[in-house]
Amino acid sequence: MSPAPERIRTDLQGKVPVASETILNQALVASRLLAKCRLAMKVLNLLDLEQVAKEKLPQMAYDYFASGAWDEVTLRENRAAFERLKVFYRVLVDVSRRDLSTTILGRKISLPILFAPTAFHKLAHPDGELATVRAAGKAGTIMVLSSLSTTSVEAVMRAATAPVWFQLYINKDRKFTRDLVARVEAAGCAALMVTVDTPEWGRRERDVRNQFHLPPGLAAVNLLPSNARGKIISQSGAGMGQAFSWMLDASVTWKDLDWLRSLTKLPVIVKGICRADDADRSVEHGASGIVVSNHGARQMDTAPATLDVLPRCADAVAGRVPVLLDGGVRRGLDVLKALALGATAVQIGRPVLWGLATDGQSGVETAINLLREEFDLALALAGCANLSSITRDLVGG
Ligand SMILES: Cc1cc2nc3c(=O)[nH]c(=O)nc-3n(C[C@H](O)[C@H](O)[C@H](O)COP(=O)(O)O)c2cc1C
Repeated sequence: MSPAPERIRTDLQGKVPVASETILNQALVASRLLAKCRLAMKVLNLLDLEQVAKEKLPQMAYDYFASGAWDEVTLRENRAAFERLKVFYRVLVDVSRRDLSTTILGRKISLPILFAPTAFHKLAHPDGELATVRAAGKAGTIMVLSSLSTTSVEAVMRAATAPVWFQLYINKDRKFTRDLVARVEAAGCAALMVTVDTPEWGRRERDVRNQFHLPPGLAAVNLLPSNARGKIISQSGAGMGQAFSWMLDASVTWKDLDWLRSLTKLPVIVKGICRADDADRSVEHGASGIVVSNHGARQMDTAPATLDVLPRCADAVAGRVPVLLDGGVRRGLDVLKALALGATAVQIGRPVLWGLATDGQSGVETAINLLREEFDLALALAGCANLSSITRDLVGG
């Protein structure tokens, strides 16, 4: 049992008034350490972390983070595909020294795992995106900041110690999009990730049932008009559909990707690819990278698992640009499998949110550290000392 701080204060106030503040602080530190130890014993992997987050979060927030579109078939498939794939490990390889690092768009990162763009981090923890970007910096990897962030891009960049990329949707209001790109570039983001699987919001029925809305005091602050920036407003509605439909444009085509590229010197990465022809076309239109993604199964339900379409997308890209994958990455072993099938790196979405909800920055660090340890062990067991020895023949049906 950890000591209850209120109880200690009462006891100390009665007995040792002079030393009470110091003792109280030590007791608080000890109880926090104890809580962390308990968490560490309880959380062996990211699936455990989700359970702890679920207990902490209000139902509406948990459902918003966890849910997929319609029947959530793709949500299950994203995971199932990783579980189906088998590893044909190599033996008698010297794996006593292992290097997990890689380079992406000219930047070295400590491991091939990025933080995917996810909305509304303050819904998970009051420190929101600041906690996330600090954890990314500590882990030596890239955070992709969602355009639906609850912290301004400028504040996030001030806290960043590793590259940050910015995710955006091409808005109906092209002037708004142009201004946002200029703002993001000025703030110091290193790349843009344009999400293209979103002509409309997918229908997440859990959100509709819960009448999902942002609590008072939270807002997608990067999307407020400049004269309202800094002010806190509440954006609400029954699910994402009503509240944020103004920021999408169902008429966006490849021409708009060309237009976006013409606005900026930043590399543009295309997120939301599920077909080889679209992978190829993205590169033809000047994309500096693609993300094989189905938006964490939140858009088109019954879309195939990202892992299942990865090899053909990677083949179509044929090494011209980096290929990222996200959707269902929950084990270090999954990272090995994605890299074997042609990914340069993977992104994690929900695991970051589970870490955040559990314990702010420290919880996100727990999430990425668990994955790092698992990936390191997976490399050893597969007979790979570094990422270049992860080849396609390592995996199969
Ligand atoms: C709660 C939540 C919010 C998300 N918000 C965005 C977003 O604002 N922009 C975007 O491009 N993708 C968004 N995504 C999709 C993620 O970038 C990513 O594709 C997905 O989460 C990966 O799957 P995983 O959660 O299984 O790791 C979101 C996903 C979740 C779960």
